[in-house]
Amino acid sequence: MSALAAEGRGRSIVTRLTVREKALERRMLRRLEQVEIRLLECAREADDPRLAAVVGHLIAAGGKRMRPLLTLLGAEFGDPQAAGVLEAAVFSELIHTASLHHDDVMDEALIRHGVTSVNARWGNRVAVRSGNWLLAKAAQLSAGLSTESVPLQAEASQRLVQGQLRELVGPALPEDRLSHYFGVISDKSASLISLSLRLGAVQAGAPAQVSDALAEYGEQLGVAFQISDDVLDIVSPSADLGKEQGKDLAVGVAGLPVLLVLEGVEPEDDELRALLSDPAGVRGDRHVRALALLQRSEAMSRARALMDGRLAGARAALASLPPGPPRKALDALCDFVATRTA
Ligand code: FPP
Ligand code: MG
Repeated sequence: MSALAAEGRGRSIVTRLTVREKALERRMLRRLEQVEIRLLECAREADDPRLAAVVGHLIAAGGKRMRPLLTLLGAEFGDPQAAGVLEAAVFSELIHTASLHHDDVMDEALIRHGVTSVNARWGNRVAVRSGNWLLAKAAQLSAGLSTESVPLQAEASQRLVQGQLRELVGPALPEDRLSHYFGVISDKSASLISLSLRLGAVQAGAPAQVSDALAEYGEQLGVAFQISDDVLDIVSPSADLGKEQGKDLAVGVAGLPVLLVLEGVEPEDDELRALLSDPAGVRGDRHVRALALLQRSEAMSRARALMDGRLAGARAALASLPPGPPRKALDALCDFVATRTA
């Protein structure tokens, strides 16, 4: 995906969230443009142009820019122009990009954001260290944020890594696989989504009760977002996803629909269960067959129902926030997550 197309995608999300709220839409688009400029500047600040190319690769390829958008929306509940809001938005995306460098190494991913992944292009060692560079860059930016945000950042970063590690080592008996799954996605995905919102509110000087409600909304939305990712991994073509379809299946990472099949007992899923039961993953013809069976299995609608439950939780958390265009945009974001195809 070109940077231009990526920016277009970010713009269309903003337009969807801010329907009929033209002032908020204009403000979000202007601020996201500043985020974009600052992100590219961060990459250029690497000493060596070859390193700048690596750390800027996924940034330039783009993405939904969900996390900075959430930081900017969180800041709408205080003074959105306050010092540090922009830096907090850039910080959120840098941490996310660092985690993708590392995640793609773990998943042996070939494509990310519609371009060759960092690991596929430069190798695993470069991908891990450039991820570390992005983390360090984020730490540099965070030095300019409020002291109140320091423990929040530390906790979210720890949860992010912990989630990935827990995914790797699997459940510790007697923990069941579903509660392990929800613990993992809450740590590896929801923690940063929640932090992104909270950081915006904290930097903007919003009251604690508001930033707490936003953080709770982010936890629920983040879990729903990761479930939708798991569902899309099975149903969406690679061209829409900007990454390989069914990659989780191929590397033996069980997303929610796969877990529901594995934990189920329905005889109609017997063939699928047999295909999915290899912890090393499913490849070749078996992968094609497993994807086809999964797409028409009952587990897909059960996964979507669990996602809807989390979205209802996210909307409930919004109830205590002051009404207005930013709250409406966060509500519309729940619809976006429920219906997204990429
Ligand atoms: C994508 O999830 C990846 C994440 C949500 C974060 C993974 C976290 C780490 C790699 C820990 C390291 C963290 C830092 C801060 C360096 P996914 O694999 O479910 O989705 P995908 O299909 O997009 O790959
Ligand atoms: Mg992955």
